[in-house]
Amino acid sequence: MNEKQRLESKQIEAANSSDKKSAKDYSKYFEQVITAPSLKDAKKRGKEEVKYHNDFSIPEEFRGMGEGRKFYIRTYGCQMNEHDTEVMAGIFLALGYEPTDKTEDANVILLNTCAIRENAENKVFGELGHLKHLKLEKPDLLIGVCGCMSQEESVVNKILKTYNQVDMIFGTHNIHRLPNILHEAYMSKEMVVEVWSKEGDVIENLPKVRRGNIKAWVNIMYGCDKFCTYCIVPFTRGKERSRRPEEIIQEVRHLAAQGYQEVTLLGQNVNAYGKDLEDINYGLGNLMDELRKIDIPRIRFTTSHPRDFDDHLIEVLAKGGNLMDHIHLPVQSGSTDVLKIMARKYTREQYLELVRKIKAAIPNVALTTDIIVGYPNETDEQFEETLSLYREVGYELAYTFIYSPREGTPAAKMQDNVPMEVKKERLQRLNALVNEQSAEAMKKYKGQIVEVLVEGESKNNPDVLAGYTSRSKLVNFAAPKSAIGKIVKVRITDAKTWSLNGEMVEELEPVEVK
Ligand code: SAH
Ligand code: SF4
Ligand code: F3S
Repeated sequence: MNEKQRLESKQIEAANSSDKKSAKDYSKYFEQVITAPSLKDAKKRGKEEVKYHNDFSIPEEFRGMGEGRKFYIRTYGCQMNEHDTEVMAGIFLALGYEPTDKTEDANVILLNTCAIRENAENKVFGELGHLKHLKLEKPDLLIGVCGCMSQEESVVNKILKTYNQVDMIFGTHNIHRLPNILHEAYMSKEMVVEVWSKEGDVIENLPKVRRGNIKAWVNIMYGCDKFCTYCIVPFTRGKERSRRPEEIIQEVRHLAAQGYQEVTLLGQNVNAYGKDLEDINYGLGNLMDELRKIDIPRIRFTTSHPRDFDDHLIEVLAKGGNLMDHIHLPVQSGSTDVLKIMARKYTREQYLELVRKIKAAIPNVALTTDIIVGYPNETDEQFEETLSLYREVGYELAYTFIYSPREGTPAAKMQDNVPMEVKKERLQRLNALVNEQSAEAMKKYKGQIVEVLVEGESKNNPDVLAGYTSRSKLVNFAAPKSAIGKIVKVRITDAKTWSLNGEMVEELEPVEVK
């Protein structure tokens, strides 16, 4: 063993012990790696092929790193982040860490962050402020920031400058590097920053610990190439990369065999699935057509971009069965002019035509959407067009947002003549309509019998169970706890704005609402 190897093995020994100070003494022998993000690089879309890896394993020297240590992960943002947290939890367990749901008990705390709007980011900075006290009490605690905010230069610079309680920052493309990053953080006196801005790879065999055993997330693709002018996601998640269909099918089959009742396929733009698979002509329609044959009661997908929603997919969804009759189809605005500036690449008329086709093929479909109000220079008339489109489509629910400028995106450079007061007032008016239509949609269920996948106790009342219908309606009802994890029939007795109340019925065929 030469000197370098001896020192390295000492570092490993020290890293594996809970004595962080002695670990740090050896840090000078390690070269500090700082790979900072670059929005400019993240914007590039190269032609290089996607590489698929199936060789993830925990390096021998890191095994047992987590013995006697606990981890805590707080997740912000979308389902993609929720699922990444499941993967990171899987890696922590493989390293020997134990989970905890209390920050005070944790030896490592990760904030898996979201960058979609300014207030999402503010929440994270607020949380880092709280964690500073914990770090002062427990200097050996490791605090990490990962997820979409880590991909932003401005965020990393701000953390480097003012949040020295943070020990490590790593990006959305570096999740599989968690063991190495933790190792370096134990060794180093400096903040460890490892954020790759460009990524063309798909790593297949990462461990995961799924939250619960009823519903599961399955990634079908990563990244986004749409570059809507307001959106940071193409910068934080890299280029579109589809997983191979056989990998997805195998994962869903495996989940079915384990008794999962519902799978949600994930991607920022699932309708672009398969476009990058050069050797096969295969899209989301083909994939859904395969998945519907698997013996699992419910399959959903999110999120759809209207532009790539093709006729084949509609045809397949119309076959029903385990393909759920709820489609989330973000429209963003009802004005063709605003859609153009947003670079959504469809007009109001094209969107309405797509809705018409979907409704013709799936008559009972529930449609929900995302809407941004107060886009730079949005006029009252353009906003009114959003309201009229909302009525015309008859959405059952929407997530509504005030436009938030994101540094590096084209919209952030636009002059904006709409005062915040006006934007807030528009949001209120839109939300009033959203509530009205949601309540109307709920009312139709009164007296009907629906199938509910029971997820557990109701959040507000542990004596009552809660679950969702095929069309994603929340139902609260009294039933024995043995119903949890099953699909049961429930008669709806009362409809509220956001949920339904009911009672479980036995041996009745479900009658879906027309
Ligand atoms: N890939 C999905 C959207 C993911 S982000 C899609 O294209 O449908 C979720 C929602 O956040 C978007 O649909 C949009 O309504 C909203 N959003 C994204 N960027 C935003 C911004 N800069 N300000 C306000 N809302 C934004
Ligand atoms: Fe953002 Fe548009 Fe991509 Fe959705 S499709 S993630 S809104 S750039
Ligand atoms: Fe947020 Fe990143 Fe998802 S920005 S919405 S966590 S892809």
